[in-house]
Order: sequence, then structure tokens, then C-alpha cells
Amino acid sequence: MSQLKRPYILAIESSCDDTSAAVLKGTEVYSNCIANQEMHALYGGVVPELASRAHQQHIVTVVKQALDKANIAKKDLSAIAFTKGPGLLGSLLVGISFAKSLAQALGIPLIEVNHMQAHILAHFIKDVHPKPPRFPFLALTVSGGHTQIVQVNATDSFSLLGQTLDDAVGECFDKSAKVLGFTYPGGPHIDRLAASGNPEAFEFSIPSVADLNFSYSGLKTQFSRLVQTSKLHNAQFIEEQKHHLAASLQKTIVSSLILKVLKAIEQTGIEQLTLGGGVAANSGLRAALKLVAKEKGFEVFIPELHYCTDNAAMIGISAYYKYLKADFTDLSVKAQARFSVHS
Ligand code: KG4
Ligand code: ZN
Repeated sequence: MSQLKRPYILAIESSCDDTSAAVLKGTEVYSNCIANQEMHALYGGVVPELASRAHQQHIVTVVKQALDKANIAKKDLSAIAFTKGPGLLGSLLVGISFAKSLAQALGIPLIEVNHMQAHILAHFIKDVHPKPPRFPFLALTVSGGHTQIVQVNATDSFSLLGQTLDDAVGECFDKSAKVLGFTYPGGPHIDRLAASGNPEAFEFSIPSVADLNFSYSGLKTQFSRLVQTSKLHNAQFIEEQKHHLAASLQKTIVSSLILKVLKAIEQTGIEQLTLGGGVAANSGLRAALKLVAKEKGFEVFIPELHYCTDNAAMIGISAYYKYLKADFTDLSVKAQARFSVHS
């Protein structure tokens, strides 16, 4: 196949706290390098100012790593892709400025990518699934910043069916874990504790929100209040109950997600669902989705974890589809902190 059909694309992702660069040839990932920013753990969440400074520090090295690992010289690249948004403005600016300069210096096209669309298109990376989902399908994207159900009609046609009206599901995991004394990101701690807890030990109410929307701020507050009040009566409460608290919280969160997934399937008649975003790592969610998919007869697609969390390979695959249509970006493009998945 010609270079035109299988271009070498260098992709850069810097929307939150991971600096990532990837090289793809067509849909095939040659490298996907990530520099994480561990200092945010000290602050209980991502600190925007620190994140952008760390991107500045990491970006040159990460891009070099991606090119070296792919064994590709800059002169062989066909295009440079970057995340335009949504995300933290200061973080996005680092990636976009780098991408613009490199594209201009090499005299090759620049391609902008929507981060939320990219989480979904990650399912089309070569070898992620034996057979990728067929259009139209539903996509559930769950992360520290987002909770969305999207109908995907084509690689360039996305309709937002529902989203969180307040906190993202990952935030509910993170803030609840913080109440139990864990550092950021708290989701993995809750997941680990939940494995040996009783999910029926505490009753939290499943957030009640209209249509296909979500809400997690009430649940977060409910969890925090229960722990704070119980601590007043028993100083050992967290130590004694943390496994049960985690299991009960996780069960409530997972039930709330499954409820909306089933509603979306019923409303649209679409029987394929993809999962993406960092919360896709949650073992309770993965198991429950697989189980309910089997029971109800729909198909669920869950990629390997490194394609669920933020990564530049997903930016690269999204850019590939744009490259095929010569959908290039002008150098005057600006980062967009708020950027809907809808197109
Ligand atoms: O997609 P991601 O890496 O970054 C963005 O937020 O964009 O997602 C990070 C989120 C955090 O809230 C983290 O706690 C959550 O994913 N997470 C988990 C698990 N692993 C990561 N939540 C629940 N269970 C997990 N195993
Ligand atoms: Zn993300």
C-alpha cells in the first residue's frame, strides 16, 4: 500500500497529566510513549499549573522516544497530530505549540483531534480487537474528567446521548478514596479494597438523573458524610470498614453506569458498546458489563488498559482517518478547553 494510504503520523497528547507521543503507520502503532506526572498524588488531584510545567519538561524527550522506538526519522513523517481539547488549557497549549512548530519546520500537514472522539476511535487501532465494532455503535467513556454515552455513526460522526451533569465518575472514585486516606488517583485503591469487601454492607443511593445523563456529586457527598459522621462515634471506623465501604461504593457506581447503558441500548436499538477512559480499568465495571452483555445479548468491546487511559496512539488513529480525507488544520488553530464530542 502506498505511503498515502499508510502514512506515518506522529501524534501528541497533552490534555491532562500525561505527556504522550506515538507513531502510527496507518492503523498500526509503532510506538506509544507516555511520561506520567506523579507529583499530583501529593495534592489529591491534578494541579493545572504543575501539569503544564511538567509537559514542557517532558515533551521533547517523549517525542524523541516515540520516534526512536518506531525507528522513524522526522523526514519520513507524513503529518503531525495533536489534541485540540477538551482538557486543561495550559496543558493543551504545550502539545499544540510543539505540534505546530514541528509541522511547520518539516513542511507537513497538521491534524487536530478531539480527545473524547479519540478515546472512542482507539478501538480501531490494529489488533486491539480481532474485529472492531461496526457502525453505528454506542460508546461509554468514563474517566477522571468525563462520563459520556455517545452514539458513533462513523469515524467522523458522533452524537452525545448523555453525560454527567456535575462530577465525572472518576472524580467520585478519587474523592471518596481521599476521604479514606488514599492518594490520587484513588480509583485503583477503591477497586483493590472492593475485591475483599461486602458490596451490601452500606447502602448508597444510585444517582437518579433524567434521560441518559449521569450525576456523581451527590454520591460523593453521601459517601463522605457517612464516613465523617461514623468516625465521630468510632475512631477506627475507616480501618475496620474500608473494604466494605469501597465495595459498596463501587457497586453503586457500577450499577448507575449499567443502568444507563441498558437504557441507551433500549432507546437506540444498538447492540454494540465500547468502553474507554481510565475508569474502564475498574474490575467491577469490566466484570459487570461482560456479565450483563451476555445476559442481555449485546456485544461489549473493552480494549487493553493502555488504550483506555490517556495515550497518544488514540490521537494518531483519529488523525489517520482525517489524513485519508485530507482534513488538515490551519496553523492558526487554538486549543479548546471545552470541546464537545458531538460532530
Ligand atoms: O482517562 P484517565 O487516565 O485520565 C483522565 O481523567 O482523563 O482516567 C483517570 C481516572 C482517575 O479518576 C482514576 O482514579 C480512574 O481513572 N481509575 C480507576 C481505576 N483505575 C483508574 N477508577 C476505578 N477503578 C480503577 N481500577
Ligand atoms: Zn481522557
